[in-house]
Amino acid sequence: MRARIAGTGSSLPGLRVTNDDLGKIMDTSDAWIRNRTGIGARHIAVEETTASMSIEAAKQALEQAGIKAEELDLIIAATLSADHVLPPLSCEIQSALGAVHAVAYDLCAACSGFVFALNTAQAYIQSGLYKNILIVGAETLSKLMDWSDRSTCVLFGDGAGAAVVTAAEEGIFAGVQGSDGSKGMVLSCGGRPVHNLFADREPEDPYVRMNGQEVYKFAVRTVPKCIGQVLEQVRLQPQDISLFLLHQANQRIIEAVAKRLGQPMEKFPVCLEECGNISAASVPILLDQVNRQGRLKSGDKIILAGFGAGLTWGAIALSW
Ligand code: COA
Repeated sequence: MRARIAGTGSSLPGLRVTNDDLGKIMDTSDAWIRNRTGIGARHIAVEETTASMSIEAAKQALEQAGIKAEELDLIIAATLSADHVLPPLSCEIQSALGAVHAVAYDLCAACSGFVFALNTAQAYIQSGLYKNILIVGAETLSKLMDWSDRSTCVLFGDGAGAAVVTAAEEGIFAGVQGSDGSKGMVLSCGGRPVHNLFADREPEDPYVRMNGQEVYKFAVRTVPKCIGQVLEQVRLQPQDISLFLLHQANQRIIEAVAKRLGQPMEKFPVCLEECGNISAASVPILLDQVNRQGRLKSGDKIILAGFGAGLTWGAIALSW
């Protein structure tokens, strides 16, 4: 059996902050942000939490899949910005949905998180262990931004996306994933330092820091390569793929990947113009938007690809 995506959902905070809005409160401009990244706006949590957005997205996905929460066997939440250290975000989602038979855990692989979670779901379904799985990618990145650092804070946003996957004859047919921890510091965010009765270490920098140019080079090199590997596994050519749904970090990265694969930009939908980069939530939000726009037809072959901190990367080929 394969993991088939049976329903999707997404949720964005109500507050929409445009580049011009940011230009009024810091030394930046719409032209700078748009030309370098393709981002025009982002949604920022005020009342919303990572859990509240996750639950809304999950409910939509369950409804579309026609599956009751009690039928879920597993919930995986991909996030780097849960509301609490404990309990896990996935357990909060389980409780709110009443998914009483599901086991729930979180997975952190930054911007590759949703793709890694989908690969995990595929492995469980293929093994016969589980049938109905909810995957959520959700972030409140605005709390991890240094709002005095214009080189990072303009790039990221908040939101959640979800997908319900079920055991079926058709679905995910190939997946590739990888990590390179030796380059971890090009995109980092400190945690809590050791602080106990015996040691009291210096606090770490609690904000997201990025070497943008290194991340850019990594992405344009690695993403086409891993999509190529996934296509090779199943003996397909880029022209056989209807849509490529890439992590939404930067329009120029997406254009470079399209060029490398020799495919037109129409096959690469984007939501970053409206949402910015939402790490693990980017791919499922884009997937939900494309799905609800009716751009996915039964039997279409599509690619999902994630890449980011870790460094981590992954791609999945599936039949809709
Ligand atoms: N507004 C205006 N100017 C800004 C700015 C902002 N928000 N942020 C930085 N600048 C300035 C810098 O201070 C610098 O000024 P200087 O030349 O006077 O020193 C100038 O713009 C160029 O900065 P630089 O960092 O070299 O820009 P860049 O061309 O590398 O673009 C990124 C920066 C982040 C847009 C680009 O590197 C990128 O997109 N990288 C990939 C990042 C990514 O996708 N990360 C997520 C992966 S999951």
